[in-house]
Amino acid sequence: MRLSCRALWLIVFAGIGVVSVVGVGAARAERVQPLLGGWRFHAGAVENGQAIGLDDSGWQRVRLPHDWAIAGPFDAKVDGRTGKLPWRGEGWYRTSVTLKKADAGKRVYLDFDGVMAFPKVYVNGQLAGEWDYGYMSFRVDATPHVRWGDRNVVAVHADTRRHGSRWYPGAGLYRKVRLVVCDPVHVAHWGTCVTTPEVASASAVVRVQNEVVNEADEARPVTVRTSILDPQGWVVAEAAVEQTVAAGTTQPFDQRFPIPNPQVWDVCSPRVYTARVHLEGESGDPHETTFGIRTFAFTPDDGFHLNGRRVQMKGVDLHHGHGPLGAALFRSATERQLRIMKEMGANAVRTSHNPPAPDLLDACDRLGLVVFNEAFDKWGPTADRLDATPFEPFMERQIRNFVRRDRNHPSVVVWSIGNEIGDILANRGGDAPQKVAYAVRQVKRHDATRPVTMGCHVTGAVTGRKHILDALDIQSWNYNRKYALARQRYPDQPSIYSESASAFSTRGYYDLPHPKAKTDYSASHQCTSYDLTAAKWADIPDVDFHRMEQDRYVAGEFVWTGFDYLGEPTPFTQEARSSYFGIVDLCGMPKDRYFLYRSHWRPHAVTVHILPHWNWPDRVGKTVPVYVYTNGDSAELFLNGQTLGRKTKQSIQVERDDLAQGKPAAASTEETDRNNLAAGGNDGDRRTRWCASGGSVPQTWQVDLGGVQPVRGLAILFEKQASGYEFVVEASGNGKAWRPLVAHDAGTTAGRGWTARVDGQARHLRVRFTGLAEGWASFHEFEVFSEPVGGGQNLPAYYQVIDRYRLRWEDVPYQPGELKAVAYKGGEHLGEATVRTAGDPAAIRLTPERPEATADGQDLVYVLVEVVDAKGTLCPRDNPMVRFTVNGPATIAGIGNGNPLGLDPFGDAQHPLFFGKAMLILRTEPGKKGTVTITAEADGVAAGRATVRCR
Ligand code: GAL
Repeated sequence: MRLSCRALWLIVFAGIGVVSVVGVGAARAERVQPLLGGWRFHAGAVENGQAIGLDDSGWQRVRLPHDWAIAGPFDAKVDGRTGKLPWRGEGWYRTSVTLKKADAGKRVYLDFDGVMAFPKVYVNGQLAGEWDYGYMSFRVDATPHVRWGDRNVVAVHADTRRHGSRWYPGAGLYRKVRLVVCDPVHVAHWGTCVTTPEVASASAVVRVQNEVVNEADEARPVTVRTSILDPQGWVVAEAAVEQTVAAGTTQPFDQRFPIPNPQVWDVCSPRVYTARVHLEGESGDPHETTFGIRTFAFTPDDGFHLNGRRVQMKGVDLHHGHGPLGAALFRSATERQLRIMKEMGANAVRTSHNPPAPDLLDACDRLGLVVFNEAFDKWGPTADRLDATPFEPFMERQIRNFVRRDRNHPSVVVWSIGNEIGDILANRGGDAPQKVAYAVRQVKRHDATRPVTMGCHVTGAVTGRKHILDALDIQSWNYNRKYALARQRYPDQPSIYSESASAFSTRGYYDLPHPKAKTDYSASHQCTSYDLTAAKWADIPDVDFHRMEQDRYVAGEFVWTGFDYLGEPTPFTQEARSSYFGIVDLCGMPKDRYFLYRSHWRPHAVTVHILPHWNWPDRVGKTVPVYVYTNGDSAELFLNGQTLGRKTKQSIQVERDDLAQGKPAAASTEETDRNNLAAGGNDGDRRTRWCASGGSVPQTWQVDLGGVQPVRGLAILFEKQASGYEFVVEASGNGKAWRPLVAHDAGTTAGRGWTARVDGQARHLRVRFTGLAEGWASFHEFEVFSEPVGGGQNLPAYYQVIDRYRLRWEDVPYQPGELKAVAYKGGEHLGEATVRTAGDPAAIRLTPERPEATADGQDLVYVLVEVVDAKGTLCPRDNPMVRFTVNGPATIAGIGNGNPLGLDPFGDAQHPLFFGKAMLILRTEPGKKGTVTITAEADGVAAGRATVRCR
């Protein structure tokens, strides 16, 4: 009997009690030594860079993590797609480690969390191992090359010349490296697997499987002793098991522990247990693996369930980079990033589009975020898979490392085998289904407790004859409600909106007047913070909020993106070097959009946020639109104490009945050879269209509504820009006598969509084209409504939905002073916010995000830098150059200001402010304690000072 997909899911996820999982890559082997300090770096080729005797004393001293390209300089001439930074090239790193003579006979490994890219690892001049994919963790066995009781030279060659990327990837030893020394009999690398086959409120069963390797010459009796520690650190279960492991083999050890009254892991109570594994007689520390006890299920009709209740995924896509730090991975930067997202209401992260650093998953475990863990962006050069590399062995080893490393994290709930693998999805006749199935099988070899998905975008993959995606457990689709189309083919599969929004904004920048369409971008190459623009394939946040409210079968959305990142500066590819997609800027400073998400994603936390700033000397006597983002349902706005009225959120029904859909249509001519027939213009499918058979005018297209109806709204989605079409829409009762309803002149509408509010009655409607600037008469959809369409209040129809989520006063007559919003919820006073016009800039203000840091060379402190007036009000139009001096045990790790056009190096001791702000990042020094004093000076204003204690 063949079970349906849905039945299978119930078995896997409900029957067994689903889920489980595991622990962090924090497994400690016998002796683990971080290799972070003491490296030397050389940019470019070096002949025999691995040689023991090479004199590297002139090379740059570096402390890991290190991204060799982030210091710049930026090159304004190259396009901004990968950040205008010099990441492409090769580089050498060298260090040395001393191994005790007493340890002779042990095994020695070098563990890399990721090296960009194609690393070759040499020990004492010999090639010990190599890898390709720059985002993947890997282990190198150094044992055959080491010298006991001596200094051992470790050299790493990194080479990004063949690495493909659609953003700034970074370069070099940008993540951690560890030296592991262990007995010949030891737990295999990533050889611990913790699952929770039974979970109930009164008790759970934790299963700990260990693979023990015997690299000695003879069989060995091995006792594995495992203790389970609860989140408070108490041992709640312990047992030992003994088996003999033959020489040269790996033996599984399987233990089960009943845990009474388990403390579940959840996004709101992220409780983490530890499995401590010790091989009796083994030297060194026990292996520790952290894990969680929880159940989850993705359902086809009711989204995502965690511990038995529906949890809406409020997710963000995050790239691996950290703005001014580049790809260099610092645990404290990662944690800060996740805390900022969590404070906004996010409960989920997609690691777009690569395996993250283990530190990110550790932080998600501890902070309570679920993770959509993704392996690749495409399967070619962006995955460091070169043309000549055969698919199956490549996938086999990459996915092995990916899943074995991450399978113990309670935060991870779904594996993704890739993003937007266009060649696969378009490969309708080829081996795409087999490739997808192969990748899915590789995941399941190492973890059977989680579903497998892929970020998809080519709808042909679910509308074509080939069933390319059958092997997936979940349909994940990027943008434009494509998941709904996939659901038609896979009604029994759960859905995830893996990329939503792709909205644009620049922190602090406001375009006036408003854009005419979501793709009406500013000539300034900045994007308006009224949050009205998005990529042409994507939408403003509100459109996707509304979809998520309506499509409850979807597990939730992942917004592209939580943070801005270097590269992909769509829509200004040449001019800029970093993205506009972020909800926060490149340095983590919130844009207005942050408060829009917070107001919607955290309905019970008070948010009252006013935009824009109130400094418009050039608009005295003119109007300025004011928006309020609040979790309240209404607000009253006051300017200098005078009320501007109270506004209430609208319960807009955006989807309404289209009277023309599927009704009989006819046209003067149609493009028969390409199947662009009259019916394609009102079939409700925006991928099909009607097109005239030639470029001549007049051309007409008409529809019969089947009876006389009130007609109040019209909408047309054209094939090309609406501004290129001149036309009249006419109405008729009998299809013979026509009267004009509304006319459109060429050059007047931005974007491909046109809407009109009309007032008429008609049975027949006709579009008569009278002028064509480019192309032929052609549209995807003609829609007719019995109610008005259009955004009202100065905005086109597309924006109608925003009145459900925002409060706006579009015509506030500007006068300087104080703007205050008082918000209400259910009639009760909720909270207030005020913005004030700033006076002249008077001082630099420094605000460290934390008063203290750990003196370990890894901890960072972010310091907010602002220019303020005499009363401490931010001066958002002043952008002085600020010069920094740091005294005490810390250095400048980077400075940024969130300007996507900025080309000032991140590593200099000076940086201009951008809309009044910048962020200074300090790095502690290992073992150096004391007080750090930061001074920030700018011309004409008082210097700012702050201190941070390093302990
Ligand atoms: C998606 C892609 C992302 C990013 C985004 C921008 O199609 O998966 O990596 O490029 O578009 O909107």
